[in-house]
Amino acid sequence: MTKYNFDKVVCRKGTDCIKWDSTPIIWGKKNLLPMWIADMDFPSPKFFSDALIKRIDGGVLGYGCRPEKWYDAVIDWFKENYNWKIKRENIGFVPGIVVGMAHALRCFTRPNDKVLIFPPVYPPFACQVENACCKLVNCPLVIKEDAKGETFEINWEDLEKKIKGCKAMILCNPHNPGGRVWSRAELKRIAQICLKNKVFVISDEIHCDLSFEKHIPFATVDAKQALNTITFHAPSKTFNVAGVGASEWVATGKEVAKKFADYLKAGEFDFGHYDSFLPATLLYTPKGKEWLSQAMDYIKGNIDYVEKFLKENFTHPTLEFTGKKVRASNEEFAEAKVTETQLIKMIRPKASFLIFLDFRALGLTQKELVEFITDGAHLALNDGATFGAGGEGFMRLNVGCPRKTLEQAMKQLKTAFNKRYKL
Ligand SMILES: Cc1ncc(COP(=O)(O)O)c(C=O)c1O
Repeated sequence: MTKYNFDKVVCRKGTDCIKWDSTPIIWGKKNLLPMWIADMDFPSPKFFSDALIKRIDGGVLGYGCRPEKWYDAVIDWFKENYNWKIKRENIGFVPGIVVGMAHALRCFTRPNDKVLIFPPVYPPFACQVENACCKLVNCPLVIKEDAKGETFEINWEDLEKKIKGCKAMILCNPHNPGGRVWSRAELKRIAQICLKNKVFVISDEIHCDLSFEKHIPFATVDAKQALNTITFHAPSKTFNVAGVGASEWVATGKEVAKKFADYLKAGEFDFGHYDSFLPATLLYTPKGKEWLSQAMDYIKGNIDYVEKFLKENFTHPTLEFTGKKVRASNEEFAEAKVTETQLIKMIRPKASFLIFLDFRALGLTQKELVEFITDGAHLALNDGATFGAGGEGFMRLNVGCPRKTLEQAMKQLKTAFNKRYKL
């Protein structure tokens, strides 16, 4: 067994990566610790980067082709991990999932068609719908809180109402942000609603391989709705190879698959560069799984660390007025009790390495919150409001990094908090 070292800090500065090299430009500040965009600071498996080096070393960088073993790797991955049996004619290549989604919208909808999404959600969903000249229909998720913490849930009543007249839905399965892994029952209910309303589903399953709970591909829950569904998936998040530009689409409906494959082919949108077929071919394998399982253990450790840190450092006594009056020494006072409130908490992700941090108890405006994080804590996080309705009061933290980086980020957050609240 190869033991990978996720503690090792790799300097990414000066490698033309968005996370480290674009942060000072985007934020206009030099001193921010970047914990935002969804790639990880871990090297992808060494056997994979070695294969890339070997290939480049060959020197001839002409056109690449889609090898048969790419199809085999994709088919085996879905069968082995999700018991989803797909055929060669059900799958195809797109360089990225947002690109694929943009094409799917243009291929399966017409301008002015209504497309439903569940905010707060990955921001390109909304802008791709709008860029395709479709009408955006928001069906905001709701937060449920119980003893186990906060989770996003679908507002079914709202969905039943808003789905009427929609041509398509973009589903994030698992959901980003919040890391919600939708259950079979929930997916079935969505499928039945879509079937009844003849809604085409674009299911973005990019985070599914990083699920800590059982992931169910949307297209496996209802055979009829599967015929009117396209799924996007990739090795990019799973193995931290987003920069290579390689994703897949799966459509088990013959007509959907043919229409999309023809559309992509006509514009050569399905053309991968020289190395695009290597990630799936080499990483959808037992060796890839070995790396993934260790990466997930490490990420889980990071999530546990943040959960504990937030509990231990941001739980404070607060006064709560009961509304009753009490008499003491012949005077009347408003009754109050002291409760322990966790002022910064998180929605624990059931998948992936992104934590939606909940600052709502601080009562800040979004502008104040962003300033607190940026100018106070010197952190570059994703602004919760950019994920759409329901994202206000939240910031998204990427924990796909060595523990040392995360410890530094938490330290900066605590220092800023203590300074702001004079603790
Ligand atoms: C849900 C979701 N879809 C798609 C993407 C981006 O995928 P790609 O880089 O392949 O366009 C991300 C990246 O964060 C994501 O979270």
